[in-house]
Amino acid sequence: MSSRILIVDFGSQFTQLIARRVREARVYSEIHPPSRTVEWIREWKPTGIILSGGPNSVYGDNVPLADPAIFDIAPVLGICYGMQLIAHIEGGQVIRTDRREYGRAEMRVLEPKGLFAVFSPSEPVTAWMSHGDHIEKPPKGYRVTAESKGNPISAFQHEKRPIYGVQFHPEVAHTPRGGEVISNFLFGVCKAEPTWTAGAFIEQDIARIRKTVGKSRVICGLSGGVDSSVAAALVHRAIGDQLTCIFVDTGLLRLHEREQVERTFRAHLGIELITIDAEQRFLGALAGVEDPEEKRKIIGHTFIDVFEEAAAKVGDNVDFLVQGTLYPDVIESFSPRGGPSVTIKTHHNVGGLKPEMKFKLIEPLRELFKDEVRNVGRELGLPEEMVARHPFPGPGLAIRILSDVTKEKLDLLRTADALYLEEIREAGLYDEIWQAFSVLLPVRSVGVMGDERTYENVLGLRAVTSTDGMTADWYPFPYEVLGRISSRIINQVPGINRVVYDVSSKPPATIEWE
Ligand code: XMP
Repeated sequence: MSSRILIVDFGSQFTQLIARRVREARVYSEIHPPSRTVEWIREWKPTGIILSGGPNSVYGDNVPLADPAIFDIAPVLGICYGMQLIAHIEGGQVIRTDRREYGRAEMRVLEPKGLFAVFSPSEPVTAWMSHGDHIEKPPKGYRVTAESKGNPISAFQHEKRPIYGVQFHPEVAHTPRGGEVISNFLFGVCKAEPTWTAGAFIEQDIARIRKTVGKSRVICGLSGGVDSSVAAALVHRAIGDQLTCIFVDTGLLRLHEREQVERTFRAHLGIELITIDAEQRFLGALAGVEDPEEKRKIIGHTFIDVFEEAAAKVGDNVDFLVQGTLYPDVIESFSPRGGPSVTIKTHHNVGGLKPEMKFKLIEPLRELFKDEVRNVGRELGLPEEMVARHPFPGPGLAIRILSDVTKEKLDLLRTADALYLEEIREAGLYDEIWQAFSVLLPVRSVGVMGDERTYENVLGLRAVTSTDGMTADWYPFPYEVLGRISSRIINQVPGINRVVYDVSSKPPATIEWE
């Protein structure tokens, strides 16, 4: 069986990063809650166990602890709270201090072995700390392997058994050599094998999908986005023409989006694809509606109706529906941080159907992070323009028109947005940006064209960098690129005589304007 690392999540905001770092080292990892029993863990057969950080103090009431029996199952690495837990259950002394150590610290490695193999004791190592409590005395049988000024016990290890602890966070980018610490644990201590690749995942997943589906028919809603495209291509690789994809043209899509999806899926991948032209229906339902949440609701309901009608036509023997759920959504649902974060905007995701629907779900990507999904897509032969695509919201251009939605406004926005993205691609900046798009503002302003006074629309441009869409910074375009974008749009899109660039970060602004 391939190597796999169990990560026990004690609630740190960095737990997902631990999983990603392990997977980047090509070892499969999964995050699980502290409530997993020792029997469950033994059954799961981890090659190694990582105890994450967390906001608690080991002395707090009702705090999650760990059973010392896990030390008999596999090598263990405790990070921050995870290390304090090891110290606590092994009889060391953890103390509460007012002095919080937060931020970068210079650490000295005491021996270039174990987690610090190939480190040099004479070179200070930069490490990111974030803790209140600290370990005053290591448990009996443990020795200190790294120290820092603020915290004389930055790392320890058991003298004989493979149990390690680090007070710093090797998983964050602020610990530049953190990747080496994690690799030393994976390969030096756990003897894990680096076999987790997109190719290996595809092979395993194909076998799993075939077994689940048998001879049934399967449908998949395509949105044009990365997740549903990769999910569909993967399921198609597994079961071929038992799969039918459904693409709803809501009339709220970007320029040529429908043609691109049809070309890729029908012509390039040979997947059976039904396109539903539902523009009239969506525009009819949205007529006169200005409120963004109202727009989202209408689009969500209309989508479900249209999709279910289309699905019914595929045939009676459709048992399964493919969904592009990703690992971060799965983790959120059991996170000790309190489940899904507060809803700022109702996110209807294309493909999210009624709870009482008759299909069983197949979620072939539920173990993957976004960057892994992209790699799987590449491995499956999806074109780069689809795999590296910026995210696009389910409600589409409707939430980028900050007034009621009409066909004329949609066409105008589509044209301007296409020019914007074309210029970004031409400048070679597309892949540096998380998401770039235009917004049609409900504002008209005065301009002059030739000898004539104009009174036309204002277009807002947005471009942000981000890693997960939760926080974002506005993108600092070179002035000449901004200049080119603006003059092209104003010259070529009738109806727009002024372009403005959005320089707000998230928070406090959101990425979309509505
Ligand atoms: P905000 O605007 O909340 O966006 O900062 C964060 C990310 O989510 C996308 N987004 C949506 N996606 N349905 C979706 O499927 C929606 O209603 C929706 N609203 C925002 C947004 O494009 C960004 O990537």
